[in-house]
Amino acid sequence: MRLELLSVQRLRARRNNKWRHYPDDVLPAWVADMDFAAAEPIREFIAEMAENSDFCYPLKPPYPQLERALAERMRQRFGWQVEGSPVELVNDVVQGICIALKTLGDAGNGTVIQPPIYGPFLEATRDTGRPPVFNPLVISGESYAIDFDQLESVIAENARFLLLCNPHNPSGRVFSRVELERLAEAALRHDLVILSDEIHADLVYPGTEHIPIATLGPEVEARTVTFVSASKAFNTAGLRAALAVFGSPSLHQRFSAFPRRLRGGLNAFGAEAMRIAWSECDDWLQQTLAYLEGNRDLLAQAAPQELPGVTYRKPEATYFAWLDCRALMLGEEPFDFFLREARVALEPGLNFGPQGAGFARLNFATSKEILWQILTRMNDSLSARG
Ligand SMILES: Cc1ncc(COP(=O)(O)O)c(C=O)c1O
Repeated sequence: MRLELLSVQRLRARRNNKWRHYPDDVLPAWVADMDFAAAEPIREFIAEMAENSDFCYPLKPPYPQLERALAERMRQRFGWQVEGSPVELVNDVVQGICIALKTLGDAGNGTVIQPPIYGPFLEATRDTGRPPVFNPLVISGESYAIDFDQLESVIAENARFLLLCNPHNPSGRVFSRVELERLAEAALRHDLVILSDEIHADLVYPGTEHIPIATLGPEVEARTVTFVSASKAFNTAGLRAALAVFGSPSLHQRFSAFPRRLRGGLNAFGAEAMRIAWSECDDWLQQTLAYLEGNRDLLAQAAPQELPGVTYRKPEATYFAWLDCRALMLGEEPFDFFLREARVALEPGLNFGPQGAGFARLNFATSKEILWQILTRMNDSLSARG
């Protein structure tokens, strides 16, 4: 089986936000969806549902087969034993994070985050009244690092949550065991609940290892809720399904007190597509990851010529290039320049918080041909500036 790369024409025929949001002359490299055809077993499952007009209310949880697939995967890939841990199916990771913030803390409790950070983290802290406590990542050589001294100085009395993004969006960092241990130690000392978004765990490149923070020990696990989904790695974000894995029954109990009706109904495709992704699609994932690694490296090679003045630090995971455009003096939001002059839609840096000023995120999960078109357009726009 070869990874199926879709043409621009076929991609534009899709009805999704990535390809429909901007006018047709814009190449989209923004929202976190991939331009590859999804794995065949998932497509076959959806086709079979369509063939049977199986669009009725789905079975209600629990889904023992999905929970078995989760347990098997976490054990095999990360040495994480989740059998027996309470699990909740949620419509998406961000919904799960919002419910956890609402139910596991009180109004005004602070939420430690490491910006620049995936924008909906900021929205979640704001919308739930659990305000952000900023512990910005710092640039350290070719990469980004957690500033532990600053962390100690900002954790205030009322901080209640550590909202961790690992692997980290947009930097592409995969935090090391040492870093995670230091974070966990701070969480223990300050009695923080750890909400760990590990949605990108399957998109880690060779040479780096993803470590679920809940595996650091029983004390850490007992205060952790981990969010996982097949949606990023298997490109099924529109099917809306994610799992929250609870490190202790009491966290689960409190989370479950949130009114079910406010969570909305489940998508008929989501849970089964996730089970199929985790159980039958690893060949596809391997090919996809190899292709993405090629794109990541191509960007590293091409950036000095094609994007002069832009600094690109290779990610250890994810298909995001977090482009440091500050030296170009394009203002706070280089996105505007590249949309206007190159007709390329990047993800605006300020969506990741004020620490994203002067940056933009490029999604390189596309064919090499389209990636080159994007680079060429960006290069032309920079050359035209003189
Ligand atoms: C770190 C992170 N968490 C969550 C999501 C979104 O997940 P969901 O659609 O399940 O809320 C994304 C999407 O890009 C992400 O990068």
